[in-house]
Amino acid sequence: MDHRTATPTTVTATEVVLPGKVEPEGLEVRTHELPAPDKGQVVLRMEATGVSFAEQQMRRGKYFDQPPFPFVPGYDLVGTVVGTGPGADPELVGRRFAAVTKTGAWASHLVVDAADLMPVPDGIDPAAAETVIVNGVTAWQMLHRTAKVRAGGTIVVLGANGGVGSTLVQLARHAGITVIGTASPRHHEALRELGVSPVDYRDPDMYARIRELAPDGVDAVFDHIGGPAIEDSWQLLRRGGTLVSYGTAASKDEEGNSQAPVLKLFARLGAWNAMPNGKGAHFYNLWAGKRRCQTSWQRRMTEDFTQVLRLVADGSLTPQIAATFPLADTVAALRLAESRTVAGKVVIVPGK
Ligand SMILES: NC(=O)c1ccc[n+]([C@@H]2O[C@H](COP(=O)([O-])OP(=O)(O)OC[C@H]3O[C@@H](n4cnc5c(N)ncnc54)[C@H](OP(=O)(O)O)[C@@H]3O)[C@@H](O)[C@H]2O)c1
Repeated sequence: MDHRTATPTTVTATEVVLPGKVEPEGLEVRTHELPAPDKGQVVLRMEATGVSFAEQQMRRGKYFDQPPFPFVPGYDLVGTVVGTGPGADPELVGRRFAAVTKTGAWASHLVVDAADLMPVPDGIDPAAAETVIVNGVTAWQMLHRTAKVRAGGTIVVLGANGGVGSTLVQLARHAGITVIGTASPRHHEALRELGVSPVDYRDPDMYARIRELAPDGVDAVFDHIGGPAIEDSWQLLRRGGTLVSYGTAASKDEEGNSQAPVLKLFARLGAWNAMPNGKGAHFYNLWAGKRRCQTSWQRRMTEDFTQVLRLVADGSLTPQIAATFPLADTVAALRLAESRTVAGKVVIVPGK
């Protein structure tokens, strides 16, 4: 198609489909003709997408908001607008944006609402920008909007090598916060280089090790693991401290209802909050508030993403790209992301 035409002619999209509960090798590739963008929509040509923890849950049917099979996974992407539907500004064509899609981004082309687009400046590499869309906004909002930790404070980040974790520790260090991060020993040297005190999460005395490093308690704990050990995270807080829970990785491989572990967690956090203990417990959800007011939710997302991109542009935040795979090798990308060996985010690009 002609990249300068506002109304696109036919676009053939290549998509990676999750057909059901399968191993990564069960992913299927299909090509199909993209429907023309509707009112207010654009066609994006994907430049970078990636594997997030959500896809690891989705392929097991364990995501809280599990989409029905079959579907195209892909939580976020960076792409260039190659066509616009009626009512969408034709000037968008040729410009680069990021979008959070929850599903659909593992594709060469896709249709998204123009209102969901967040600008990506030309000087920033698409793969670098990709690592800080959901991961960057989540980390920024948990640190600065939920926990509101100030310079001089001390925090604990579980899973400090992960996509969200490796961004969060850098944002915190940039804000003058002391960071204790848990990860397997293979990542400790890299974490030290980022100014983080690492603790081995496989050590049965992990929480005692953290207490040795912060005997007076900490200002915030960021916990995406959930399960019974969340009690230990809660106990690490000093008076005035905040527990930010944002996932239930511990139950990824458990059989049963995908929502039950989260609902159990909500009940626990609610009970802690109801007690007069001078501490706060929150569940952070990136999507919170979207249904109430889509416009202000999107405005906040774009503001926070732009802040994070500024830190990438000035070198304060180093995007952690674990590896890059072409779309045709998404099986290998998902396998690597699930190998429990990587630091940062596995990125998917269109290919040769
Ligand atoms: N609530 C929200 O709005 C929101 C938004 C974005 C992400 N999240 C959550 O954030 C978490 C991180 O996402 P991500 O995309 O950054 O994932 P990721 O890159 O795959 O990183 C996952 C991290 O968790 C560790 N981990 C995984 N399973 C574990 C287990 N059973 N016990 C201990 N540690 C474990 C990993 O350590 P190894 O590398 O050693 O396995 C790694 O450090 C996920 O739980 C995701 O659901 C929530």
